Amino acid sequence: MTSRLRFWVIFQVVLVIFFARLSCSFKAKSAIGDPGMKRDNLRVAIEAWNQCNEVYEEAPNMGSPRHADCFDLQKSNNRSNKNNVLAAKLVHLVNEFDNKLSINDAKSLGQYYLNVDMYAAWKELFLGYKCKVQDEPKPWNFWMIMLKSGNMDTTAAICPRNGIPSQPFAQIPRFPCFGKGCMNIPRIYHDYSTLHSHRKHPKETKLKGGFHGTWELDADMSTAKTRNDTSFFSLEFHHVLKTSSKYPWLMHYLRSDATTGFSGGYHYETRGMSKIVPKSPNFKVRFTLDVIKGGGPRSQFYLMDIGSCWKNNGQPCDGDVTTDVMRYSEMIINPDIHTVSPGCNPKENLKLCPIYHTFANGTRVHRTDEARFPYDAYHMHCSPGNGMYLEEPFNHCDEYSNPQAQEILQILPHPVWGWIGDPRTWELDVGRLSQSLYFYQDPFTKPAERHWPSIDLGTEIYVSSNQLAEWVVSDFDIIVTDE
Ligand SMILES: *[C@@H]1O[C@H](CO)[C@@H](O)[C@H](O)[C@H]1NC(C)=O
Ligand SMILES: *[C@@H]1O[C@H](CO)[C@@H](O)[C@H](O)[C@H]1NC(C)=O
Ligand SMILES: *[C@@H]1O[C@H](CO)[C@@H](O)[C@H](O)[C@H]1NC(C)=O
Repeated sequence: MTSRLRFWVIFQVVLVIFFARLSCSFKAKSAIGDPGMKRDNLRVAIEAWNQCNEVYEEAPNMGSPRHADCFDLQKSNNRSNKNNVLAAKLVHLVNEFDNKLSINDAKSLGQYYLNVDMYAAWKELFLGYKCKVQDEPKPWNFWMIMLKSGNMDTTAAICPRNGIPSQPFAQIPRFPCFGKGCMNIPRIYHDYSTLHSHRKHPKETKLKGGFHGTWELDADMSTAKTRNDTSFFSLEFHHVLKTSSKYPWLMHYLRSDATTGFSGGYHYETRGMSKIVPKSPNFKVRFTLDVIKGGGPRSQFYLMDIGSCWKNNGQPCDGDVTTDVMRYSEMIINPDIHTVSPGCNPKENLKLCPIYHTFANGTRVHRTDEARFPYDAYHMHCSPGNGMYLEEPFNHCDEYSNPQAQEILQILPHPVWGWIGDPRTWELDVGRLSQSLYFYQDPFTKPAERHWPSIDLGTEIYVSSNQLAEWVVSDFDIIVTDE
């Protein structure tokens, strides 16, 4: 009961991922375009994915599911106006026409060969170009907000299986679907950022804006937020996610993605915020997170979700979805998660434990070493469906929920990761952590270099209707400590 209370009460988490080595010649620097989310000139974009991270069909009259709110605040020092108010105006870089672009516009833009999935990827590059900020060592684009529904119509065989075209099969409980069209993209509405004068301090101005929407295509948007059994999301860096019985499995993350190349879970070129892609073990991540509502016992609230891609032979991914493997490491902070799924343990669920744990001093312990293996530090490990030499017993990852095969390691707050002291202020050594985590590789192959093009936080509410999560992220930064 106490652990439940701890999660529901507003709390503050400061996550600091320590650097493993501090080289004297290298000055720690931010890897992202907007360190600490301090810029007035905001850059934010939103994307929606179906179960296999594609579009398949746009929501009616919504355009392709990529939208952006990017603006520059122009201040003028004209204080001759009578209130002596500092004059400022917003110059929006992405207009409504850009945000509404849909596959129906592809031909008039000369994009004859794009299907609806490729068009969304194209639109992201277009919005990225409009929002681009020149910087060193590379220009950057925007924060990315991801929305994803886990619904899957297995009878329609829309999603490939481990990157290979799939066959239809009868609906099973593992994949929620209320019937035809269950994999729809949400309706997304945009409140363009605007300047308002502060009610209490009229000489000050504040910015307001955001996105909101619902997956229920027929719901009344004005009541979706409060109406029972209606999915809803909103964000202004204050995030809300609500599930319904038709849409019980929803994800909503804030992502810092690489500005070029593929980012976590995707096999198209993307745009993002990380002008430097952090590499294990030389980076730390820092942010403040207020969890206001946890999202229920099956909410996999990710304090940190890092995504990368490499092949089973250790080579970097190249877009060939049959051999590329997405690798995720997710730290779940919902203390109730064990009450709904017991997770990794040596007696009943050894298959959910990674093969090895590596301690900070480099000592590696096999998962059958019951005296020394820290089972409580792990929730779940699943292996890539195309791994040829997996050690028994194993647990294959969801074969359908990515364009390619995937491997996931879900971990829990535990002293072995460097947790210190008061649970409100957590310090975590993730640069080192991400280096030492077990991920599958074919025997006798050179270990993959671990670059993390996607660093996210947010929640995945796993198959449970009418759950509500609400949280605020601030001060986000990724600091690289060596290159
Ligand atoms: C400064 O503000 C005054 C009063 O609002 C206005 O008349 C004037 O045109 C402004 N000057 C400039 C340079 O914007
Ligand atoms: C909300 O809707 C669900 C699904 O229809 C139902 O089971 C539940 O009782 C409803 N809750 C309230 C408070 O009406
Ligand atoms: C490394 O750390 C582990 C866990 O704290 C401990 O059991 C082991 O003895 C240590 N090994 C060495 C060589 O210090």
